[in-house]
Amino acid sequence: MARCYSPCSSSPTTFLSLSSFKHEGLVSGRMRVPERRNTTLISHGYPSLRSRKQFELKSSNGHPLNAVSSPDGLGGKSSTEEPVENRGKDGPVVYSEPGKAKSTISVTVVGASGDLAKKKIFPALFALFYEDCLPEHFTIFGYARSKMSDEELRNMISETLTCRIDKSENCSDKMDQFLQRCFYHSGLYGSEENFSELDKKLREKEVGRLPNRLFYLSIPPNIFVDVVRCAISRASSANGWTRVIVEKPFGRDLASSGELTRCLKQYLSEDQIFRIDHYLGKELVENLSVLRFSNLVFEPLWSRNYIRNVQLIFSEDFGTEGRGGYFDNYGIIRDIMQNHLLQILALFAMETPVSLDAEDIRNEKVKVLRSMMPLQIDDLIVGQYKGHSAGGKSYPGYTDDPTVPNDSLTPTFAAAALFIHNARWDGVPFLMKAGKALHTKGAEIRVQFRHVPGNLYKRNFGTDLDKATNELVLRVQPDEAIYLRINNKVPGIGMRLDRSDLNLLYKTRYPKGIPDAYERLLLDAMEGERRLFIRSDELDAAWALFTPLLKELEERKIAPELYPYGSRGPVGAHYLAAKYNVRWGDL
Ligand code: BG6
Repeated sequence: MARCYSPCSSSPTTFLSLSSFKHEGLVSGRMRVPERRNTTLISHGYPSLRSRKQFELKSSNGHPLNAVSSPDGLGGKSSTEEPVENRGKDGPVVYSEPGKAKSTISVTVVGASGDLAKKKIFPALFALFYEDCLPEHFTIFGYARSKMSDEELRNMISETLTCRIDKSENCSDKMDQFLQRCFYHSGLYGSEENFSELDKKLREKEVGRLPNRLFYLSIPPNIFVDVVRCAISRASSANGWTRVIVEKPFGRDLASSGELTRCLKQYLSEDQIFRIDHYLGKELVENLSVLRFSNLVFEPLWSRNYIRNVQLIFSEDFGTEGRGGYFDNYGIIRDIMQNHLLQILALFAMETPVSLDAEDIRNEKVKVLRSMMPLQIDDLIVGQYKGHSAGGKSYPGYTDDPTVPNDSLTPTFAAAALFIHNARWDGVPFLMKAGKALHTKGAEIRVQFRHVPGNLYKRNFGTDLDKATNELVLRVQPDEAIYLRINNKVPGIGMRLDRSDLNLLYKTRYPKGIPDAYERLLLDAMEGERRLFIRSDELDAAWALFTPLLKELEERKIAPELYPYGSRGPVGAHYLAAKYNVRWGDL
């Protein structure tokens, strides 16, 4: 199987794939750089989507968006003036007639019949609509190759709108209203003609309003560039903004990721590209910075002086069921560590940003990534799950999947120790662990603190002083919580101590529920808030860190340690932690 990204040209590619994806329909031939119909951007083009009732434009961090600057120096400014907009001297954008804003947003989900679209994107759009977060005038288009009518798309969407909203009041009325805004256009992914037809349909819906367009690419990466070429040349907004959301994988190493970025940037400016890492949209990950930067009890402790180690743990209690073909070309390091866990690490470890602006935050994250020590193969453990029977049920091994080669060495589990070479974190191990087909499903951030020096109660802890250190846990999922392990006196006469948790369990404290990560991210993309999206230099730094390690792993054909489906993973992970005097907090 060829393992390269499609070059910028749309010649047919032999790249991997999501096996269901064929490339018929991709236009082959010489690449033509289309005329950019809208290369200037309005990063704050829609009056307060966050809540239509509010007037001032706010991003998801509560910060006025006109302060957002961009790496290309566009500064969120646009030469395409919105007719209704007035720019305050230094203050936020204001609209002269708030109730009569004349813009509209069209969201086109490319790859509308795929799993991600059905399970995440449409439900998230509906949840936003239900919560009154979408603008008064919006249109949703599904775009895919299959022939489908608008009605059939609506049926498909309604069957999968099993989002958190579905038990709420008026859900079915709202759903009907939402579905009336959904349309479908069948087309090939590499056909400019088909995108022109889409453009025509979009215009019919947008009539009389300033059109802003968002394309969500829910498609395999080997056709990103073709779709972007067609969408930008034939269906971008003539005078509003055009943005494109792309989902990982963004390449499979530094070179292929760089090539993809280079190709996308032939049609889009960096400001138009919204690279999604849905972990950044998760509530607890969002809260990480709030917890640290707004609490005096945490901020001063956030360094090597008080923190012994940090653990970033991801586990799933199911295998690659149905996705083996895709997964085998990536493996768990590319699938989870290089993006989701590394993004959390960067957020966790960054210095205080100058402000909450996207560029200030992303600048700090990039610094962390660039300060990381090269990853050593000795600091990596890889594993692969094997078949296992328990309680009369048998669970398949990874290579039992017919789409996975029998001799595959692709890791479905990995544990690694990473270090940041800077004054704040020198010597502190950041341990990552990610695996599929483990005994449990969850994601958490664990911060283990140092011992209390000269601890008065030392003898009460017996010989295992490590058990007496504090631990802060952010449970990202399931059952979101933040808890702090402390030492406490057991009530009664005498002095017996135990470890207890100060526990902030979200479902008890905030029973209203938590939005799905895709809701926040989609809304941010519509608002032009880039804070939770990956900038190209961040992506480069992330790949620069992992590429040499992946290359060595693959060149040396290092065999993964087998672990039974449903187990706690390879025992090697414990040795790795022990090497740095660390105990995994989740065990
Ligand atoms: C995706 C990975 O990015 O994240 C999947 O490709 C993984 O392999 C998924 O299952 C996990 O996301 P979540 O939100 O279900 O934890």
